[in-house]
Amino acid sequence: MRRPLRIVLLGPPGSGKGTQAHIISELYGVPVITTGDMLREAVANGTEYGKIVDSYMSRGELVPDKIVNGVVGERLNRSDLENGFILDGFPRSTPQAEFLDGFLEEHDLKLEYVIHVTLDDEAIVKRLSNRRSCPNCGEVYHLVSKPPKKEGVCDKCGSELILRDDDRPDVIRNRLVVYREKTQPLLDRYMEKGLIKEAPGDHPMERLPELLKRVLG
Ligand code: AP5
Repeated sequence: MRRPLRIVLLGPPGSGKGTQAHIISELYGVPVITTGDMLREAVANGTEYGKIVDSYMSRGELVPDKIVNGVVGERLNRSDLENGFILDGFPRSTPQAEFLDGFLEEHDLKLEYVIHVTLDDEAIVKRLSNRRSCPNCGEVYHLVSKPPKKEGVCDKCGSELILRDDDRPDVIRNRLVVYREKTQPLLDRYMEKGLIKEAPGDHPMERLPELLKRVLG
């Protein structure tokens, strides 16, 4: 039996982290933990806490580390992660990476890989304006490379697809600035630990499973 897989996906907004995370999950039966989805769920619930989270997300800023570490810590403590986990969108700052290191050390666990998903800024802005997301089940589409079978409707659950609030060009540009400033420095941290594996974000969609099997060995 394969050993547990503990993976982080790191890369700019829209590079394809979520898409690759779900393919790895299907290939190896490991759950995906997507901080963006967890935070969007909090916003959709319309609580005071959700409103605070929304005030950061709608501007493309990072939600404060204390909030995100709390949400992720709670998730990592659940009992369904014996085969490992795929972290999509976490950590995104040095305090978050330190939190993850602390959690792993405390539980005597190790990260196997940090997959760096790469894509240039121009392609990202173009790509995100063509993304459509399901607000109900989280499935992600692309109008050209992964269109839904029926226009505007989720294949999986039949809900109406949306363009995310933060997929407007001005907010995308700020997300890219925030990525360079807060998240990109984590690449050096994981490079030093020898954990980085590169995965191009523009690899042909139908050949992603093959690529990821090769990357993960
Ligand atoms: P989050 O939801 O994590 O957004 P993100 O990192 O900006 O990433 P995206 O979900 O936009 O893109 P992705 O890389 O997953 O690409 P995808 O696979 O969808 O975060 C949103 C916000 O939440 C943040 O701005 C922040 O406010 C907050 N937040 C989240 N985590 C946080 C944290 N840890 N700390 C603080 N704040 C946090 O692909 C994009 C499109 O491309 C899709 O349409 C897809 O179909 C298409 N595509 C993907 N791969 C390919 C391919 N190979 N070929 C062609 N098309 C492709």
